[in-house]
Amino acid sequence: MNNKLNQLISRINSALSESVGYSEPLVDTVIKAEEYSLMAGGKRLRPILALLFCEACGKESGAFINVASAIEMIHTFSLIHDDLPCMDNDDYRRGKPSCHKMYGEAQALLAGDSLVFLAFETVCKEAGKGVISDKAATEIIELLARSSGAFGMTGGQIIDIESENKDIPIGTLRELQQKKTGALISAACEMGCILADAHHMIPFAKEYAENLGLAFQITDDILDVRGSFDTLGKPIGSDQKNNKTTFVSVYGIDKAELVASELTDKAVKCLDSFKNTDCLKDLTYKLLKREK
Ligand code: IPE
Ligand code: IPE
Ligand code: MG
Ligand code: MG
Ligand code: MG
Repeated sequence: MNNKLNQLISRINSALSESVGYSEPLVDTVIKAEEYSLMAGGKRLRPILALLFCEACGKESGAFINVASAIEMIHTFSLIHDDLPCMDNDDYRRGKPSCHKMYGEAQALLAGDSLVFLAFETVCKEAGKGVISDKAATEIIELLARSSGAFGMTGGQIIDIESENKDIPIGTLRELQQKKTGALISAACEMGCILADAHHMIPFAKEYAENLGLAFQITDDILDVRGSFDTLGKPIGSDQKNNKTTFVSVYGIDKAELVASELTDKAVKCLDSFKNTDCLKDLTYKLLKREK
């Protein structure tokens, strides 16, 4: 399983590096900033999910590395902006100084913007090469846009900021987490079904992702309290510093761990509707026990 995941990570990294790796003198800084954050590491969870869901729907995923990598570009944009002083104001990401610490706020903001467009350009190029159909490209572009925008990840970030220093109902907290983190995770799983031309599997993929997305963010909130900076590669204590409302701040660590574990079990159950799920199941459990 680790072998398979490592192979995927290395193929995703090559695809990302190639897509961002051209230079043009007048815009060199912003391209360097994009590359800096994109290639700093990261678990590559979202493209991996897209590829594994494609396989779980019965289709070989090897041709779709570039398309799947597009979602990592959007995820990296969300991290660059999340760290900005006007957001979480965090100085480290993926074990390195945050994009704005290296390149300044304006370049970091623009590097984030550029990564969004690079993602859409990447999907269109793959359609141009005939790797995916125009219909699949349209569906994937719509999916990425919808799950990243005001009704998805960006919306979650808005609720997150507006909930600082507040007691919010648990339903709002769940919605916040589902949107800011769950939406892109769900898009990744859904993308896998589209790549496999298995649209009838999308509802099952979404149910899996709803559980995994919430478990994933709760674990992130737990690691923010008791992870280690050296392993995580990002500051711990960020949520408390910003008076964020999280599952940990509301329930405490023990209950948060229990909820994350229950959600993980539910997610794994949802995989029963798919084939070839050994790697996906292992990955889902591994994410619960992760240290970064
Ligand atoms: C961090 O995402 C931000 C959240 C949505 C919780 P990841 O934990 O996937 O970060 P990387 O990509 O591995 O750096
Ligand atoms: C942010 O959640 C989720 C995003 C949309 C980037 P966090 O603010 O908790 O993510 P980290 O802990 O900084 O990675
Ligand atoms: Mg944040
Ligand atoms: Mg943050
Ligand atoms: Mg966090």
